[in-house]
Amino acid sequence: MRARQGVVVLGSTGSVGVSTLDVLAAFPERFEVVGLAARSDATRLQEQIDRFSPPYAALSATNGATVSGTVVIDNADPLLELATLEDADIVVIATTGHAAIPATLAALQAGKIVALANKETIVAAGAIVMPVARSAPGQLRPVDSEHAAIWQCLPGSLQVQRDVRKILLTASGGPFRGSTAEELRAVTVEQALDHPNWEMGARITIDSATLMNKGFEWIEAAWLFDCPIDLVQIVIHPQSIVHSMVEYDDGSIIAQLASHDMRLPIQYALTYPERPAGPARRLSLDDFAQLTFEAPDFNTFRAPKLARRAFELGGAYPAILSTADEYAVNAFIHRRIPFSEIMDLVEIALDAHVAGTDALTLDHIAEADRWTTALLDQRLRERGT
Ligand SMILES: NC(=O)c1ccc[n+]([C@@H]2O[C@H](COP(=O)([O-])OP(=O)(O)OC[C@H]3O[C@@H](n4cnc5c(N)ncnc54)[C@H](OP(=O)(O)O)[C@@H]3O)[C@@H](O)[C@H]2O)c1
Repeated sequence: MRARQGVVVLGSTGSVGVSTLDVLAAFPERFEVVGLAARSDATRLQEQIDRFSPPYAALSATNGATVSGTVVIDNADPLLELATLEDADIVVIATTGHAAIPATLAALQAGKIVALANKETIVAAGAIVMPVARSAPGQLRPVDSEHAAIWQCLPGSLQVQRDVRKILLTASGGPFRGSTAEELRAVTVEQALDHPNWEMGARITIDSATLMNKGFEWIEAAWLFDCPIDLVQIVIHPQSIVHSMVEYDDGSIIAQLASHDMRLPIQYALTYPERPAGPARRLSLDDFAQLTFEAPDFNTFRAPKLARRAFELGGAYPAILSTADEYAVNAFIHRRIPFSEIMDLVEIALDAHVAGTDALTLDHIAEADRWTTALLDQRLRERGT
C-alpha cells in the first residue's frame, strides 16, 4: 500500500485549482500529486509540473502550446483518463462548465474520492451523478464553501435527517446588494468583477454579482442533500463568515463559521474526517464585530427564480440554464451585452427549449450545450452585437 494518497486536480490553473495545490503543498507527507489538467494555460501548468512533478498532465485546448517533464495525455477526453488513473485516490474537480461531468461520473464509478468544486456538474447532471454518488456513500465530498458548511452541520453524511427543518444557505449578496434594477443597468465589467469578499474565477464572480451563483447552489443543495428545494432557504449574510446553517426541529441552528478562504473547505474534503492545521486564514474575534442576516431581493435579482424554475422543469433545463448563463456572462465580459441582459439571455433559452420525454443522459446535456450556444449566437447576431 502507498504511504501517500494520490491526488488528481482537474482545473489546476484556476482559482480553486491553485488553492488546492496550496493545501497539497502543506501536507507533503500525506498527499502526492499524480495528475494535473488545465484548458489552455500552458505557462501556469508548466510551473505546476515543475513544482509538483506529476507523472501525468493534460491541456484540453492546447492551441499549439505544450508542456514537458511529464506524460501528456492527449486523447478525446483527457479529464476522464486522469480521473480514473490507477494511482489516483482523490480527484478534485475544479474546472468550470460541463467539461468534467463524464470524468466525475467515471471517478465515482472507479471508487475514487471526488472533491467537487464544480457546481455546474450537479446543476446540469444531478439526475445522473447523484444516483451514482448515493450508491457509493462517502465518495462525493462537496468543496463549495456553503455545501461544505452544510455537510459539517449534518451528523456525518450528506443525507438530511428527518429532524432537519431547514437548510439556511448563506449568500454575500455580491457587490450590488441593495441596488435597484435601474442602477444595475449601468454596472461595468470592472465593478462586477470586484467581489467584496472572495477572490474567484471570472465566471463565478459575475455569477455572484447576478446571484445566479446562489441559484446554482440552491439546486446543488437540493441534489447533494437529497431534499426538497423548499427545505433550502437563501439568506443574505454580507460578511461571508457564516458559510451556511442547518436548523433542526428542536429549534437549534448549527452554523459553520470560518474566514473566506477556499483552502479550508478544500482541505476538509481532502483530509476528512480529520482537521489538521493547514494554510487557510484563521478567524479572529475582530471578524465577528458584526454578523448580519437579511432576506434576498428576488425581484431585482431574478437569477435564483430562474434557477428554481429550471430545476423544477428538470430534464435538460438545468443544463440549458448553466450553459446560457456561461454564454451570457462571457458576452457581458466581452462587452457585447449589458449586465442587466445576462438574465434576459438565460430566460430566452429556457423559454425556447421544448422538453423531451426520455430520461436525461450525458448526450442530452452535450446536445443542450450545443443547442443553447447556437440559439444565443443567433440572437446576438440578429442584434448585430
Ligand atoms: N473560485 C472559487 O472560490 C469557487 C468557490 C466555490 C466553487 N467554485 C466552482 O469551482 C469551479 C472552478 O472555479 P474557479 O473560480 O476556480 O474557475 P477558474 O479560475 O476560471 O478556473 C477554471 C479552471 O478550469 C480549467 N478548465 C476550464 N475548462 C476546462 C476544460 N475543458 N478542460 C480542462 N480544464 C479546464 C481552467 O484552465 P485554464 O486556466 O487553462 O483556462 C482553469 O484551470 C467552478 O465550477 C466554480 O463555480 C469556485
